[in-house]
Amino acid sequence: MALLEVSGLSKSFSSGRNLLGRRTGWTHAVKDVSFDLGKGECLAVVGESGAGKSTVGRMVLRLVEADAGTITFDGVDVRGLGGTRLRALRPRMQMIFQDPYSSLDPRMTVADAVAEPLVVHTDRDRATRTRDVARLLDRVGIGSRYLARYPAELSGGQLQRVAIARALTLEPSLIVCDEPVAALDVSVRAQVLNLLRDLQEELGLAYLFVCHDLALVEVIADRVLVMAAGEMVEQGAVEEIFSSPRHDYTRRLLKAIPVPIPRDRHGKFLTPPDYVVTP
Ligand SMILES: Nc1ncnc2c1ncn2[C@@H]1O[C@H](COP(=O)(O)OP(=O)(O)OP(=O)(O)O)[C@@H](O)[C@H]1O
Ligand SMILES: [Mg+2]
Repeated sequence: MALLEVSGLSKSFSSGRNLLGRRTGWTHAVKDVSFDLGKGECLAVVGESGAGKSTVGRMVLRLVEADAGTITFDGVDVRGLGGTRLRALRPRMQMIFQDPYSSLDPRMTVADAVAEPLVVHTDRDRATRTRDVARLLDRVGIGSRYLARYPAELSGGQLQRVAIARALTLEPSLIVCDEPVAALDVSVRAQVLNLLRDLQEELGLAYLFVCHDLALVEVIADRVLVMAAGEMVEQGAVEEIFSSPRHDYTRRLLKAIPVPIPRDRHGKFLTPPDYVVTP
């Protein structure tokens, strides 16, 4: 059984109201999308802006309610869960957003932001929490001198590392990564991607990796789901889709791949100063 099984997922948003307040139309954000995600696996969801990628990720975590379809996580029907049981499942499914500035509370220190899920979901005492938070931040490459700092005092790359640490606090088995490096400087993208890959391997995490940059997908993902205008165009193993895409839309996406981040012979992304970024 897959860790996550999604079948026939659909969502429409009302796209406007007239002067009388009547709805004037609906946008099919997602139409009949189905996929499986195994434990420890990475499925990339790709497609142009507005294709419905983020909406798929949000529905899986119930941040957006689906109109139709089923979502089964570890054998549990996620859409059918009420408040208490949904809260109990929360720790196991986390999300990392594109913009770390808006995903962290500006009034909370780094240490408090990472400790918060532990306060809400566990009964660990303060000393244990402090120890766990320090260990996590160390693991994502944030030194102890940042513990008492506020988000405004950190760089985008550092903030995304803090967001990753926060997502890991409750030992999830699935993380929805919504364009986790798209807002970062090219120079730190590689580092954050390497971190995500190392964590995945170490902790056996499954990633639903929303992304529009196919150059990243090739290295981070095992399988790809291609979406266009809310619909599933094709899905398959990365090598398969990259070497023999079945659809024109996928071919066009592949043609639009920007210059990839250079990698060493082990597949690790190289980071400056190992290579020179030419604008
Ligand atoms: N909360 C919302 N209310 C109304 N429409 C929405 C909402 N969220 C998404 N949409 C619409 O649904 C469609 C899919 O949006 P979504 O954000 O899932 O696309 P995306 O593939 O993630 O795009 P991007 O690459 O730009 O992030 C778009 O037409 C968008 O305008
Ligand atoms: Mg999006």
